[in-house]
Amino acid sequence: MNRQADKQLRNEAIETYEQHCQKVEEDRYRLDYHIVPPVGLINDPNGFVQWNGVYHMFYQWMPFKTGHGAKFWGHFTSDDLIHWRHEPIALTPSDWFDKNGCYSGSAIIHNNQMYLFYTGNVKDDEGNRETYQCLAVSKDGIYFEKKGPVIELPSGYTAHFRDPKVWREGDRWYMIIGAQSESLHGKAVMFQSFDLYSWEHLGPITGSHEGTTGDLGYMWECPDLFELGGRDVLIVSPQGLEEKGWQYKNVFQVGYFIGEWNRTSHQFQHEGFRELDRGFEFYAPQTTLDENGRRILIGWMGVPEQNEHAHPTIDHHWIHALTVPRELQVVDDKLYQRPIEELKQLRLMQQFHETIHVANEGKAIHSLKTGREEIIINLLENRVESFSIQLGTYGSLSYDDNSQLFTFTRKSIVGDENEVRQCEVATVEQIRIFVDNSSVELFINNGEEVFTSRAFPTVGEQSIRIDTAGEIQADISIWTLHKLDLQLDRFTNE
Ligand code: FRU
Repeated sequence: MNRQADKQLRNEAIETYEQHCQKVEEDRYRLDYHIVPPVGLINDPNGFVQWNGVYHMFYQWMPFKTGHGAKFWGHFTSDDLIHWRHEPIALTPSDWFDKNGCYSGSAIIHNNQMYLFYTGNVKDDEGNRETYQCLAVSKDGIYFEKKGPVIELPSGYTAHFRDPKVWREGDRWYMIIGAQSESLHGKAVMFQSFDLYSWEHLGPITGSHEGTTGDLGYMWECPDLFELGGRDVLIVSPQGLEEKGWQYKNVFQVGYFIGEWNRTSHQFQHEGFRELDRGFEFYAPQTTLDENGRRILIGWMGVPEQNEHAHPTIDHHWIHALTVPRELQVVDDKLYQRPIEELKQLRLMQQFHETIHVANEGKAIHSLKTGREEIIINLLENRVESFSIQLGTYGSLSYDDNSQLFTFTRKSIVGDENEVRQCEVATVEQIRIFVDNSSVELFINNGEEVFTSRAFPTVGEQSIRIDTAGEIQADISIWTLHKLDLQLDRFTNE
């Protein structure tokens, strides 16, 4: 471990924070109850784990600018998944095996130590890439000792081979890695180990052009395989899918397969690929099994190369955020993402609660008071007709009962025109919305479908209005949510 380079990078990151923190905090688009970077860019959630009651959430962090580059691992901890405090920086790109980035990875707990597995990204002067799967170990979950590479690139793959997710089953550890084969197909590649240091390559469990999967992109990032409700679920972020009707509209997607992973042949028999989230900004999610046995997911509220340069927060020296935590469940072969129960702790006071009736008209319902709101709309009719709900200048949601399409519309980040994301929903019973100054997370029917997006409202009143050509009756509740403090003192006093 290059301690001198490590120390220098830590100091530079803290100095950058101190230089810009005032401007960062002044931003009216700064989120108040989501994980955001102290300064610079956040992307993937990493190393999500609970240890002795404490949740750890690491993240891909570029402290020095609002673009990508040689990533650090920033680190937050929490007792309740709601209040987060920033810990000292976990990993800096300070060694020969990770000098161009401590890329994404995961954490496990073993023998009272925390093990981080991450990808060491290395580039030479010509831009040629090397990739190492690296290990770092900690006794306290705060300070890490890098152990260096434990896996080198196996033959048959390009250097786009990264994002190890590790977990234990019985007497062994498994690691799944996102990969690109030499024939330029995305794969999920499995390894196993009995000691966490020596790893046996078991090959791809599935991938683009494997079995009946067909063409599913040229690279798979951030795979996550777990058992849930008696099934095996693989979540992956594939790159290179073509837009198909209302599907795959983002630059890169996130989706999942449900099936059975055979622990002997290592083949994963699964059903088709299904998008996990329908919004504009959602990528590279990671899950953990917490001490209560819940499978919890947090994603990156961003998409690589999708108009990142045009986010207005760049003027304030920060960009992107993580999503609220969601509990996963398999219901009828579909993965549901439900806001975790703890999110109710965020409720500060109720702004509004009414049963409304709208028939062949448009009706102003309420003006949002803070930019930090939870809204629950329970539709009371058995048969819901077409309607639209304007959410101030954040955007609007609408449902068409002929096509059964649910639509979220917002003003484009790059121009003045509107843009949409859509998905099919057979019946809409409930819409639950979390607004946080410049983000909107929409949960339909308790997580059956989710739209995760950034949205940058204009200054002024944000009024909710409902329009329908038919008739709807709805029970609407709106809460003001708490503004949380990121608790950066442990990080800045490192
Ligand atoms: C996904 C990703 C990962 C990589 C990391 C680098 O957003 O590209 O594949 O490890 O980001 O920051």
